[in-house]
Amino acid sequence: MKNKKITRKITQGMYVLTTNGGGCIVDAVSQISAGDNPLISVAVMKTNYTNELMKKNEKFALSVLGKNEDGSLIQTFGMQSMRKTNKFENIEIEEIEGIPIIKNSLGYMLCEIIDSIDNDTHTLFIGRLIEADVLKEEEAMSYGYYQEHKDELIKITTEKGHTAWVCTICGYVYYGETLEEDFKCPKCGVGRELFEKSTK
Ligand SMILES: Cc1cc2nc3c(=O)[nH]c(=O)nc-3n(C[C@H](O)[C@H](O)[C@H](O)COP(=O)(O)O)c2cc1C
Repeated sequence: MKNKKITRKITQGMYVLTTNGGGCIVDAVSQISAGDNPLISVAVMKTNYTNELMKKNEKFALSVLGKNEDGSLIQTFGMQSMRKTNKFENIEIEEIEGIPIIKNSLGYMLCEIIDSIDNDTHTLFIGRLIEADVLKEEEAMSYGYYQEHKDELIKITTEKGHTAWVCTICGYVYYGETLEEDFKCPKCGVGRELFEKSTK
């Protein structure tokens, strides 16, 4: 493959996916049908705790991140697991039909899960929109914008005197001179082509 980074040009947004008991940052969201209650799909990595929860639950919500988000929601929901920390501890939420919605978002879509398809790395969950609201009329953050501004949004510190490889998706830091060809991020599962080298 000559340069997989072109896939970043697929226009995607930034969302906090929530379900009963947890949630995580996602960009892999699409509206896949029309009408008053369209179908919305979201691809969730099999290694994410949120995947386990989605398989047990009947509903999920997507809270839309605005361009003014300062990076804290991305760090809280996208760079740590609910397996180890309570992500909701300092976050203002409102429960809609038992699902937490992020108050500091542009709005939410609440869906009822109707189907799911497992592939090698992700499960594609398909939900029918049953409730939605706009909370703020501001510009949404795109995944492309996040990629271009992630150094300002996310402060990743690496130890001095060590070669570090930083995952450009989730911020995981690997220390070592080289990354094996089949290296996969232990946190978010992407391959080594999405790691950037940092030497201090
Ligand atoms: C910018 C960004 C985009 C992400 N997109 C997705 C995504 O589309 N699907 C997904 O499953 N994880 C995605 N992640 C990774 C999860 O948010 C992350 O692995 C999270 O820590 C999982 O938490 P959990 O174990 O509590 O579910 C993304 C992370 C970031 C920072």
